[in-house]
Amino acid sequence: MSTRQQNMTRLDDGPFAYIDGMLCVDGLPLRRIVAETGTPAYVYSADAVAAAYHRTAEAFAPLGGTVHYAVKANANLALLRLLARLGSGFEVVSGGELTRVLRAGGDAASVAFSGVGKTRAELVFAVRQGVLLQVESADELDALQAVAAEAGERARFTVRVNPDVTVDTHHHIRTGHDASKFGLPVGLARELLERAAGGAYPNLDAVGVQVHVGSQLPDPSGMADGAKVGLDVLQAGRAAGLQMDLLHVGGGFPVAYDGGHVPGPEVFARALEPVLADAGVRVAVEPGRALTARAGVLVAQVLYRKHRAAGRMLVLDTGMQHLMRPALYQAQHRFKPLEAGEPAGPTELVGPICESTDVLGVSDELPDLGPGGLVAILDAGAYGMTMASNYNSHPRPPEIVVEQGVARVARRRETWEDQLTWERHADSFGTVLPSRAIRQQLRVDSTAEFKRIDLDEDGKVKH
Ligand code: LLP
Repeated sequence: MSTRQQNMTRLDDGPFAYIDGMLCVDGLPLRRIVAETGTPAYVYSADAVAAAYHRTAEAFAPLGGTVHYAVKANANLALLRLLARLGSGFEVVSGGELTRVLRAGGDAASVAFSGVGKTRAELVFAVRQGVLLQVESADELDALQAVAAEAGERARFTVRVNPDVTVDTHHHIRTGHDASKFGLPVGLARELLERAAGGAYPNLDAVGVQVHVGSQLPDPSGMADGAKVGLDVLQAGRAAGLQMDLLHVGGGFPVAYDGGHVPGPEVFARALEPVLADAGVRVAVEPGRALTARAGVLVAQVLYRKHRAAGRMLVLDTGMQHLMRPALYQAQHRFKPLEAGEPAGPTELVGPICESTDVLGVSDELPDLGPGGLVAILDAGAYGMTMASNYNSHPRPPEIVVEQGVARVARRRETWEDQLTWERHADSFGTVLPSRAIRQQLRVDSTAEFKRIDLDEDGKVKH
């Protein structure tokens, strides 16, 4: 064993470890990376994302399952490119996510488009690309039929069923109970499939059912219960005469944010096996955080120490504007110093935002850091950057992707000036609306984005 290996302490099953007292990602000191990029910075290990993808794909291979990565967890183009290269499918929830997947080289035929509020422009985009639509309401199904007919295309769809299953996870990330806004009640889902079988949607092909009971599932029982309900609806569709064979069972595979253990994808696959046995369906999973959370950290710098009666507090150069999970879900992340040191006692970490909820957490593991001290916030690779905002007009951080020991800036840091870009078209007081001339110039209707790229041979916009 080399000295280097002797001095290595892994944090968990992810890519981060202390080597000779320095926190490293895949052997590369984070300190060296942020010396180049500054802080705050998101740093991801591509190899860890690839490993998590392979693990999930292998777990579901015996069921003939396919993996559709939930882009909402981390939409970085470099990571999407990597997943596309590995053969992953994708689950998207907006035209923006679909644009990213296509730009990253994802195969449109492997994309499933979910979400309760798809706009007409998004339906047009998805139908033209041949994407699978996961439909959530009767009105949406009518809209999809209209769009497909107008485009002279056929579109594949699943119905998203609300299985009325309540799982033991944070109430903000439960989606399968009957009061949630997601999915169709079982009765209505069956009714829509019967209508489809009766020819009510001549441009649409019903291919399956989607169920997603929630995120950060403590065990596979909720997913299995949801799958049973989904399968019943699928079988009802078959009985009505439809050729349906696809069951999307959603995402929700958990991540141990405390560094402990949670059931892996194999446990979920095993629990689904008896449910799906002999059903003759293709199962699809939509993991988000399980592929990216553990692969990423947010590296921040201590700006100031603040002393107060309640205990130690450090003010960081990042906060809820870059990592919203603690403020939104009381989520707890681990904090690690970039240079190992003796813990100095409970320390509260806060951000710079003018909100009392801008508290990232409390840690018992940090040494006595002062201004310039560097801290990694762990398991921040999912729902970190995708939920980041420009609140208080702070620029969003860069995203660094490390692949086989080489670090690359996959997305550069925003600047103060960048944030003015979207207001540059207007004079200092903005644009007066409504005005026909301006409307033609700016095409402010919500489908403009799509229409604008639909050009005729002379390069003119088709109407
Ligand atoms: N499929 C559907 C239909 C979903 O709604 C979601 C997540 C996923 C898949 C992926 O779930 P995952 O495998 O990542 O748990 N921002 C929250 C999570 C919101 C999840 C929304 N839907 C968080 O930071 O915990």
